[in-house]
Amino acid sequence: MKIIKAKDYNDMSRKAANVISAQVIMKPGCVLGLATGSTPIGTYAQLVEWYQKGDLDFSEVTTVNLDEYKGLPRDNDQSYYYFMNHHLFSKVNVDPARTFLPDGMEPDSGKACSDYNKVIADAGGIDLQLLGLGHNGHIGFNEPSDVFEAGTHCVDLTESTIKANQRFFASIEEVPRQAYTMGIQTIMQAKKVLVVVSGEDKAAIVKEAFFGPITPRVQASVLQLHSDVTVVADEAALSLI
Ligand code: F6R
Repeated sequence: MKIIKAKDYNDMSRKAANVISAQVIMKPGCVLGLATGSTPIGTYAQLVEWYQKGDLDFSEVTTVNLDEYKGLPRDNDQSYYYFMNHHLFSKVNVDPARTFLPDGMEPDSGKACSDYNKVIADAGGIDLQLLGLGHNGHIGFNEPSDVFEAGTHCVDLTESTIKANQRFFASIEEVPRQAYTMGIQTIMQAKKVLVVVSGEDKAAIVKEAFFGPITPRVQASVLQLHSDVTVVADEAALSLI
């Protein structure tokens, strides 16, 4: 595991965008695994800026996102599709037909998950997976558990995740209770993993996940077993290690 220390959020965003742009330049037809959440917003903004300058071309790239809420339509401004479209897809020349997220509107969880596993397999697997880190160590929506789930699955969100997401909805009742997420095996099969982390409030979980025991209670700890992980974190997030 390589840990790259960034000065602050902007520096983290630039460094992470550099890693992603190197991937796209080296393999224009690569498969990027993408994440939502606050942390990668600056990374996407940087990629958009470099695209606008003519330094990046996404025309052959395929993207597969980590997760999507179950029951939110794509045009709901809290859906992860909406987020990705707003922050990246509509601002670069990625082919919309090659941008994939789990289908949140598929009510049959078994079908939604097996369809998404097939999308990832048909794309040839993930070259570079971008991850944020939850305060409880979750990656995607793989919440603390007794097991590491393999493929895409439907999760009941924990109370703490529902509360953390409440700020984006009019009321807590509107926060979806379930989501579809890529599994840990799929994430671990990505050729490279890039984790972005920012802020003092993540310092304890950075220490636990990357320097503590490997356990499904802290799902990100499994990344210690991956052979090509880069963590780009700012000084605040690294303050306890
Ligand atoms: C996002 C995702 C989540 C977030 C994590 C950190 O697709 O799957 O695991 O990466 O909750 O979120 P932020 O970046 O908002 O702290």
